Amino acid sequence: MDSLAPRLNLITGDNSLGKSFLLDVAWYCLTRRWPQEVNPGLTSGAMALPRDRKQEAVLTFTVDGEQQQEREYACRFDLEEEDWVGPVGRPVNPGLVLYAMADGSFALWDPARNAWKRKGNSDAPEKIKAYVFNNQQVWRGKINAADERNWLCNGLIRDWASWQRENGEVFAQLEQVLKVLSPESNILKPGPLRRLRRDDATDYPTIIGADEIPVSVIHSSSGVRRILALSYLLVWAWQEHQRASELLAKPPSPQMIFLIDEVEAHLHPSWQRRVVKALLQVVEGLHAQTAVQLLLVTHSPLVMASVEPHFDPEQDRWWDLDLNPETRQVELTPQNFARLGDANSWLRSEAFDQHGTGSLEREKTLREALRIIHQRERGEAVDSQELQRLEQELQKVLGSTDPFWNRWRWHFAERQGGRRP
Ligand SMILES: Nc1ncnc2c1ncn2[C@@H]1O[C@H](COP(=O)(O)OP(=O)(O)OP(=O)(O)O)[C@@H](O)[C@H]1O
Ligand SMILES: [Mg+2]
Repeated sequence: MDSLAPRLNLITGDNSLGKSFLLDVAWYCLTRRWPQEVNPGLTSGAMALPRDRKQEAVLTFTVDGEQQQEREYACRFDLEEEDWVGPVGRPVNPGLVLYAMADGSFALWDPARNAWKRKGNSDAPEKIKAYVFNNQQVWRGKINAADERNWLCNGLIRDWASWQRENGEVFAQLEQVLKVLSPESNILKPGPLRRLRRDDATDYPTIIGADEIPVSVIHSSSGVRRILALSYLLVWAWQEHQRASELLAKPPSPQMIFLIDEVEAHLHPSWQRRVVKALLQVVEGLHAQTAVQLLLVTHSPLVMASVEPHFDPEQDRWWDLDLNPETRQVELTPQNFARLGDANSWLRSEAFDQHGTGSLEREKTLREALRIIHQRERGEAVDSQELQRLEQELQKVLGSTDPFWNRWRWHFAERQGGRRP
């Protein structure tokens, strides 16, 4: 089995083939936690359950630890425990592991805050296993259930406002990340803090819109909110990691792994064309001594086309999930990343397996029209009613200037009572 590439891993595949499942399992393998086990308020990131309980379910994986040590593990699903059990002892430290789920939930495992030496074989219940937030908690914060006086995370709205008031290094980093992740035509620039209602004492961050008017972050569009949340979480995770590392008198982790499901979620095509390059730039700019590995799931041919100039086969890999029609098993295979040129070519490639890129009706009618043309070319008789019906169908699916009309009229010009063009 091939290994993941050290820098960028792109994962494609049809709906329901298991892309999100793969990321959930990857997060588990790296952290030994399932996102939903840490935060039951999540609707995604559930523990993997074996389909057939009569067969043994095993997860084997190899992790390159922070200290460059490579370790192989195997966990087995225990039917009585209803849990995955593996060898006792601390797993190798993979560095910071961030996981942005498709529904806006977020999971973080921080070696400076979520790793501790085990006493015997039991987990310390009072320790924080990982930071896992649903979409609402990303924005509004989350209280520590074990000690309700403390917040696990203040959330985007309050953290952003206090960083902005401090106007120090953290806010500068947030501004920089937002700038890099923005499309050129719509730079996400923080505006003044705003109160929104008389009975709400929250100071809301704002973004200066294209019309120069500040819009509160809670009223921003879905695409903007997705990027604001990703930017905030990255800055928050990194800052908190740095602070915790200082308290441990250790340098920040030399390794970070960032999993993002549906990286193009909510983004307009112009943004889809920039997001991966921008993400690479942002993560590479975080800390010179920290190597970042990305696992990105995408449904977007624009994303695949946008990566072409940046794809380096030494550091990057494209993985495709496909259903093998013979075995009925889903297979994950590394694909040869070729420069196909544009999104249409990517749609037709193994990444998306599309025969055409227009409407299905157009595709079907063109297939029928080509069949009739070939019939005529072979000198066979063509039924005039069939011809009439097809011409009407073509009128419904083709624009009046579609080049296919030239070909059609060349063969059937007499139908219009005219001459061949
Ligand atoms: N925790 C789980 N335990 C067992 N099986 C699961 C689990 N999560 C997902 N699956 C199985 O994996 C299949 C694929 O689900 P998944 O959400 O990963 O698809 P996907 O490739 O991300 O699809 P989409 O593109 O629609 O997001 C599901 O239909 C289900 O059979
Ligand atoms: Mg999915």
